Amino acid sequence: MDYMLLRHRDIPKLNQIDVFMKEDGFEGLKKALKMDTADVTNEVKAAGLRGRGGAGFPAGVKWSFMDNNNWPHYVVANADESEPGTFKDREIMESNPFQFLEGIAIASYAVGANAAYIYLRGEFWEVAHFLDEKIEEMEKAGFLGENIQGTDCSLKIYTHLGAGAYICGEETALLESMEGKRGQPRVRPPFPPSQGLYNKPTVVNNVETLTSVPYIINNGAYGYRKFGTEKSPGTKIFSLSGNVNKPGNYELPLGTTFRELIFTHGGGIPDGKSIKAIMPAGASSSMVVANDEALDTPLTYEDVPNVGGDLGSASVIVVDDSVSLDWLIRKTMDFFHHESCGKCTPCREGSYWMKKLTERIHSGEGTEEDVALLKDVATQMQGTTLCALGEFSTMAVVSSIERFPEDFA
Ligand SMILES: Cc1cc2nc3c(=O)[nH]c(=O)nc-3n(C[C@H](O)[C@H](O)[C@H](O)COP(=O)(O)O)c2cc1C
Ligand code: SF4
Repeated sequence: MDYMLLRHRDIPKLNQIDVFMKEDGFEGLKKALKMDTADVTNEVKAAGLRGRGGAGFPAGVKWSFMDNNNWPHYVVANADESEPGTFKDREIMESNPFQFLEGIAIASYAVGANAAYIYLRGEFWEVAHFLDEKIEEMEKAGFLGENIQGTDCSLKIYTHLGAGAYICGEETALLESMEGKRGQPRVRPPFPPSQGLYNKPTVVNNVETLTSVPYIINNGAYGYRKFGTEKSPGTKIFSLSGNVNKPGNYELPLGTTFRELIFTHGGGIPDGKSIKAIMPAGASSSMVVANDEALDTPLTYEDVPNVGGDLGSASVIVVDDSVSLDWLIRKTMDFFHHESCGKCTPCREGSYWMKKLTERIHSGEGTEEDVALLKDVATQMQGTTLCALGEFSTMAVVSSIERFPEDFA
């Protein structure tokens, strides 16, 4: 299969504008500019492109929710990439930046935005400077700025650096942070397409989502749907890490199985060990038992839940049989306790207690009651937190205790 997103792996120096233009660069944008804005949105809707930031919400549907009685409109690219195990957006931005920027331009045209922002985690400052250069090159070539390609469409793209907080990847905390406030989630509704940045209608999309858009406009919804499944069309970048021989980013059609990803592409498990568990969506995942049923499950939004997980941002972490899960959940709890923003009580207090209990259990000082209490705290948090971070923090804890009780004996 040819790459749709990681095209730089086939085409050297694709991050140089002249090379990009020789390789059909900006053709999607040129085509979109000749279309009605609603048709652009409808094409993305028909392609069934689902958001790659984790929730899998259909991108075209989100664009169509923009409130046309409230202007101006904004587009924000979510480049916070903070989920442990996720490292795909950085590769796109560094190696195929123009396709990403082209995707932002098409989305902005579709929703009538004249300003778009890229929110990057603070540690990505070098990437932000690099993108600033690429934005300038696109302006000089007439693909950004005033009257793009002689049309009455104008767009400025700005980069914005966060300070390196995981919660600022949550779209409403991200918007608060962009407005110069403390990065904490907003109560929803209203959702960003009705009230987002500066209370104006805003589309927030992940970097990979936006980078998929030029291909869709160029090849049409039908061309895009040649890859993937009915409910999960297209290709996806899987960030593969953990106990695997060849960790890295793999762009594959949605519907590829865990077995193909981990054993065919990832080269299997090192040192003759066996696979024990899989976290399909980074630290926020449930711990999936890596039996034959799970390994033969297609990586799609609809299939992964059948084996007790979620596809999320598809940061697949492989766990071999030498790992005791009491250690692994202690690591995830360190992370979530540190990153809990403190705005709501169940997550602020719950993550504190879960951290204490996982530490005690891992140190060997824990009792059977501690394991029961840990599960009880986690279960009580579920469905009560203001944003999904609180919920995420409980997933590995509850599923590990339920599915791997021997690791807590
Ligand atoms: C705690 C938390 C962290 C998140 N981090 C990211 C992130 O780093 N990047 C991202 O694109 N989405 C992240 N999301 C999801 C965003 O809230 C939002 O759903 C996404 O940016 C929408 O884009 P999409 O529809 O293209 O996926 C996070 C959500 C939560 C709850
Ligand atoms: S769930 Fe956690 S991160 Fe989300 S608002 Fe509550 S305290 Fe903050």
